[in-house]
Amino acid sequence: MKILGIETSCDETAAAVVEDGRRMLSSVVSSQVELHARYGGVVPEIAARQHVPAMIPVVQEALDRASCRLSDVAAVAVTYGPGLAGALLVGLNFAKALAYACSLPLVPVNHLEGHIYAAWIDREEEPDFPALVLIVSGGHSDLVLMEDHGRYQRLGQTVDDAAGEAFDKVARLLGLGFPGGPAIDRLAGAAPSPRLRLPRARLDRPYDFSFSGLKTKVQRIVRGEEGEKPEAAELAAAFQESVVDSLVTKALQAAADRGARQIILSGGVAANSLLRAVLVQRSPLPVLVPPPALCTDNGAMIAACGHRRLLAGDIARLDIDVQPGLRIG
Ligand code: KG4
Ligand code: ZN
Repeated sequence: MKILGIETSCDETAAAVVEDGRRMLSSVVSSQVELHARYGGVVPEIAARQHVPAMIPVVQEALDRASCRLSDVAAVAVTYGPGLAGALLVGLNFAKALAYACSLPLVPVNHLEGHIYAAWIDREEEPDFPALVLIVSGGHSDLVLMEDHGRYQRLGQTVDDAAGEAFDKVARLLGLGFPGGPAIDRLAGAAPSPRLRLPRARLDRPYDFSFSGLKTKVQRIVRGEEGEKPEAAELAAAFQESVVDSLVTKALQAAADRGARQIILSGGVAANSLLRAVLVQRSPLPVLVPPPALCTDNGAMIAACGHRRLLAGDIARLDIDVQPGLRIG
């Protein structure tokens, strides 16, 4: 069964065809990153407008690369939240039109749930529940216990900045441009064992995250308010190490406390090389991390998750609206 997945929740126009929820036949991502880079971050209005001309070519290319036509597709799965309202509207309305015109079921997908399903695309491993999921992206840092398909319990979240947001803000402080995550990842590679140690936030709720204090600390160091300024690579590496340590320590603690059988890491920040390496190294449980291209936003994860939702009978009416603040668990 082939599902067409469509994703427009932020600044990527993406479409993909996935067979039986696991086998990726195509995945096309048109990134607007250059358009937003000059503003230092995603501008919602520009993102929404840019999805419009990109939508049809991206979907056409996804079908072409999968060597299939719309008549071969069993359903159209689309992100309806969370994300930027205007951006989500473009993908959802396009998917509605396509589903209506081709008499296909319209399957609504929660973007965060989509990130999780990226873990099983083109992999041998089967889902093993309960699984501890760490979703770290530009907008979210969630620790979730996945008890079964479609059954989630949110254990923790960020109380201020999301992990990706912290990477982006610190990159700006270091003059590295947008998006900051990949730039910090690269620069930190030049200082593999930083001597500088930055603090880890301590919170009352053990599975919650906080990154704004760390960002302020970096800001003070950059401004010379904390004595001699270290090299930018040293600072980037120390920041990255602090974020990774918090994420991994809390994920492993939650997995042990809740008897998880598998750990899943996903979302854009899961593309971070140190986070991937440290989690695998410290985890006593099997760790599933999608390849970097499936960690950042894509249509394949929406198609994969959509397959599951379709099997569960989750078909939307054509008056479904976007849910920019949608959560998981
Ligand atoms: O999941 P995603 O593509 O979009 C959202 O749903 O937000 O995540 C984007 C975020 C950005 O903040 C970006 O800086 C971060 O993921 N990111 C990284 C890396 N690649 C992307 N953060 C750290 N290291 C990376 N290699
Ligand atoms: Zn995302």
